[in-house]
Amino acid sequence: MNFELKTFDISGAANEKCDALIVLLSQSFKPGKDVLSILAAHALKAGDLETKPGKPGRPLVLYRSEGVACSRVVLAGVGDGSAKEVRQAVAAAVAAVKGSSVKKLTVCFADLPREDAVRAAVMAVAEASYVFTTTKSKPEGRAIQRVVVGLPNSPKVKPAFDRAVAAVTGIEYAKEWANRPANHATPTLLAGAARSLAKLPNIKCQVLGPKEVAKLAMGSFLAVAQGSDEPLRFIVLRYDGAAKSEAPTVLVGKGITFDSGGISIKPAPEMDEMKFDMSGAASVLGVFRALAELKPAINVVGLIPSCENLLSGRAVKPGDVVTSMSGQTIEILNTDAEGRLVLCDALTYAERFKPRAVVDIATLTGACMIALGGVRSGLFCANDELARDLLAAGESSSDLGWRMPLDDDYAEGLKTNFADVANVAGRAGGAITAAKFLQRFTDKFPWAHLDIAGTAWKSGTAKGATGRPVALLLEYLLTSANPYK
Ligand code: BES
Ligand code: MN
Ligand code: ZN
Repeated sequence: MNFELKTFDISGAANEKCDALIVLLSQSFKPGKDVLSILAAHALKAGDLETKPGKPGRPLVLYRSEGVACSRVVLAGVGDGSAKEVRQAVAAAVAAVKGSSVKKLTVCFADLPREDAVRAAVMAVAEASYVFTTTKSKPEGRAIQRVVVGLPNSPKVKPAFDRAVAAVTGIEYAKEWANRPANHATPTLLAGAARSLAKLPNIKCQVLGPKEVAKLAMGSFLAVAQGSDEPLRFIVLRYDGAAKSEAPTVLVGKGITFDSGGISIKPAPEMDEMKFDMSGAASVLGVFRALAELKPAINVVGLIPSCENLLSGRAVKPGDVVTSMSGQTIEILNTDAEGRLVLCDALTYAERFKPRAVVDIATLTGACMIALGGVRSGLFCANDELARDLLAAGESSSDLGWRMPLDDDYAEGLKTNFADVANVAGRAGGAITAAKFLQRFTDKFPWAHLDIAGTAWKSGTAKGATGRPVALLLEYLLTSANPYK
């Protein structure tokens, strides 16, 4: 999909040649004498259109209106013009014309929008029109090819617009990989995707296999991978946009391409969805895809420990004790708590980059999904400045996080007589005890952990990957510059 920013107001919108024209009207809309204004004013007066804040009415579809070049016009109220209202209105408006093979779409703001509202509009068009086709024999792809966003004169919005377009590219890359079934997204194929990203500007990629990973003594990662015939991959991506002396931010993505639970096997219902257990990895790939578009002057490293979590005669067993790359021994009491086992070795590997911050992203716990649902990702971070930056990036990109606690008392349950640490505690506070496990491997750098178990995937009819938290991470990388204490 191709996005373009243009300057025209509601009177100019009437001349736009396209297959559908969405006009967004806020509560401060003052109708002029142009044809679209008059139509909107009539609809408002009749109560067929609503611009009061917090009242997203139905979008009003008009067909072949006199004096309007575009045959389909959708009028939609956006209340106070907030990002949230714009997102809802655009989603509903796109849905209203979706069946009509709209190739070229125009979205026009009748009133000068806020930056985050422009971004929300771009993201909402992409979201509402996305289709996964890779594993269909007769793919019916996305109809919308070109999107023009029209604003009544505001050059200030251009950087925000470009950022949103890049975010969409990254989000869709992440969705593609997270949606792929495990046999179409093995660790090797994921590494292939990372390698192809290295063809883009400023990106380099290195892929390690079982031998190299054994040499690094990543005993914890190896233990998870050993149950599968599919060889593990440890992916190292670099985006170098700044001087070598500039400390990089490291993103670590959980890359379990299928999580059966291992010997601690999961129940059958919905086990298919565990193909999404590499969503953290997919979000890292998506961020790199977006960085290549924007080419910011920063350094970023992406680390992806990737393998399957399966059962076999060679699989790791409950009670097995392994030695992580950090030297700490781990008693694997539950083989289904595998995410932390692959992440801990990647976190230790991150030390060599002397990072300014390390953020890991993982579909880590069902407990986080229970705690926060699909609205906010769980943010665990002992550094207040880093936490603030990440939460702020979430707010301005409409990709929300929520801070969770890390009190040491939560780590009590990880104690065991048989190793330095156990990989699970009790059921209570499961998302937090998982974070406490990871924290043991992060004393060399400021660290944050995003648990995206609830946010990376949508169930129900619109089932599929969401591409979160690509927008949050990208925004964080582009806006936070200061070193952390
Ligand atoms: N990948 C899962 C987490 C998950 C579960 C995400 C359900 C989305 C929906 C993770 O590897 C896992 O299995 N975690 C266990 C941990 C438990 C054994 C301590 C869980 O959450 O049940
Ligand atoms: Mn698991
Ligand atoms: Zn998992």
